[in-house]
Amino acid sequence: MLSEEKNRALTQVGADTPGGELLRRYWHPIGAVDQLASDPVRPVRLLGEDLVLYRDLGGNYGLLARHCSHRNADLAYGFVEERGLRCNYHGWQFDHEGKGVHFPYEDMVDADSKLRNKIRHTAYPVRAKGGLLWAYLGPQPAPELPDWEPFSWNNGFVQIVFADVPCNWVQAQENSIDPVHFEWMHANWSRRLRGDTGPYAPAHTKLHFEEFDFGFVYKRVREDTDESHPLWTVGRVCLWPHGFFLGDHFEWRVPVDDENTLSVTWSFIRVPNEAEPYRQETIPSWQSPIVDAKTGRWICSHVINQDIVAWVGQGRITNRSHENLGASDRGVALIRRRLFEDMDRVARGQDPKGVIRDPALNRRIELPMSERELMLNGMPLEQYERHPVWGKHLHHFPFHAGQPDHIKRAYEDAMGLKTVEVGIVNI
Ligand code: FES
Ligand SMILES: [Fe+2]
Repeated sequence: MLSEEKNRALTQVGADTPGGELLRRYWHPIGAVDQLASDPVRPVRLLGEDLVLYRDLGGNYGLLARHCSHRNADLAYGFVEERGLRCNYHGWQFDHEGKGVHFPYEDMVDADSKLRNKIRHTAYPVRAKGGLLWAYLGPQPAPELPDWEPFSWNNGFVQIVFADVPCNWVQAQENSIDPVHFEWMHANWSRRLRGDTGPYAPAHTKLHFEEFDFGFVYKRVREDTDESHPLWTVGRVCLWPHGFFLGDHFEWRVPVDDENTLSVTWSFIRVPNEAEPYRQETIPSWQSPIVDAKTGRWICSHVINQDIVAWVGQGRITNRSHENLGASDRGVALIRRRLFEDMDRVARGQDPKGVIRDPALNRRIELPMSERELMLNGMPLEQYERHPVWGKHLHHFPFHAGQPDHIKRAYEDAMGLKTVEVGIVNI
C-alpha cells in the first residue's frame, strides 16, 4: 500500500518529476527499424513528450520535438531530406541534432540571419539495435545502450510486437515480478476460457526474489516442480527499470505518458537444426490489437493480451492506497522500494541502477536464463515437436493476438514448417 502522494511520485513520467528524471537515465525502445523503412516519418510520444521519429535519406535516425520551432506546425507531416527533416509549412529543415540546416526564405534574404544561429530545435539521440529503435531523453553523456546477448543470437526468427496500452507503466512492470499470476492469469484462466472445467494447474508452493546488477530475479517451486527445476535454480528476470526477460523473449513497458504505455515484445524463435543456416534479412514488426472489435471487450486469447487485461483493469493509474499486499507481492514491494531509492540517487546526481557507462562491459551481456543451450545450438525438428513448451510455440505465436499473415508465412519459411492454430497455449 502506498499513500496517494507516494503513488503519484512512483507513476509520474514528466520531465519535471522525480520519476520522469529517473526514466530519463535509460534508453527506451520506441519503434522498429522496419517501420521507418516503409514510412520514414512517425509521430511518437515518450515520457509525456510529443516527438517525431524519422530516418533521413542519408540514413541518419532522428527524434525531434513534434512542433516546428518556426510556428509550431506538425513535423509528423514533414518530409525527409539527405540530412534531416523538413517542415511542410515553410520548409525549415532540422538535422538529427536539432540544428537548422535550411531556412529557405530567411536564407534567401539574409544568409547571416541571427535566427539561423539562435534556433536549436529539441532533438534526442536514436540508435538501432535488435531491429528496435531506441531513444534517450536524458542529460549527456548518454549511457551505453545495453547490448543484451540475445540481440546477437543467430539462426532464429525475430519479430517485434507493439501494443498501445491505456494505463501507467508501473503497473505493467509490477507484472514482471509477479510469479503467482502465471498460475491464475495464464494457466487456470486459459483452461476455463477454453471450456475446461477440470482441475486447476499445479499451485505455487514457494517463492524467492533476488536482486542483481540489471534487475531482480524471481524463483518459484510449484506442486509439479522441485528445487532442482530451472524455475527455482535460474528463475526469471525483471529487467531494470521497465523490462521482462524470459529466455526466449523480452518485454518492455515503455512509458508514453502518465496514463499510457507502449508494450514492446521482442521474440526470438530458434529454427530447427534442419533449417540452418538461417539468416534473417530484416526483423519484422507488427501492432497487436488489444480490443475485440466484435465485442468491445479486451482480447484474452494470448499471453500478453491476458497480462494487458490485468494492467488496464487496475485503472489508468492504479490506486495503491487501496491495495493489500500479501506474501506473493514481495517482489512488487522490492521494485517499488528500488524505484524510490533510484529517484533519490538521480536527485543526488548519481546514476541509478543498471546504467552502463563502460563500453568494455557492454558486450553481449548475459542475463539469467535456462534456455541458452537451445537458443545457441537448437534441436532437430522432431525433438522440437515433442517438447512440451517449444512444440506448441513452433506452431502458434502465443504472446500476442493478431499476427499478420505475411509474418506468419515468413516464420513458416524460416522454420521449414507449416503452422496450425492450436488455440490458447497454456504456459
Ligand atoms: S511552421 Fe515549420 S517552417 Fe513554418
Ligand atoms: Fe503474464
